Amino acid sequence: MTLVRFLNAAGRPEVDVPLGTSILEAAQRAHAPEGSACGGVCACSTCHVYVRAGLGLLTELEDDENDILDKAFGVEATSRLGCQARVTSDGLIEVELSRESVDTYYNEHPAERRALEASRGAR
Ligand code: FES
Repeated sequence: MTLVRFLNAAGRPEVDVPLGTSILEAAQRAHAPEGSACGGVCACSTCHVYVRAGLGLLTELEDDENDILDKAFGVEATSRLGCQARVTSDGLIEVELSRESVDTYYNEHPAERRALEASRGAR
């Protein structure tokens, strides 16, 4: 099993996943707010993440993914599309969700956005 941790999601959620799991699937299991406007078919870039640890535990970056990443904001050397990057080895993977991805998630889940804003206002 591989532990996938979401560094900038509330509570730094983490989840153990079997080989073959995508980062997007891990985010959904961990309840981390990763956007997926195209439904995970490598067509939108809203699942853009930065892999801060364990990049070598993921599938290689393919041409299709690279083409879509070109449309994302703030791309770095460790950028991946969460729907395309799949776990290939056991270990620890640490992921930071891109701002674009988090914004997309909350736009797709307005009730969760309102709850988040209410919790921030309560502090
Ligand atoms: S969800 Fe659209 S490219 Fe990954």
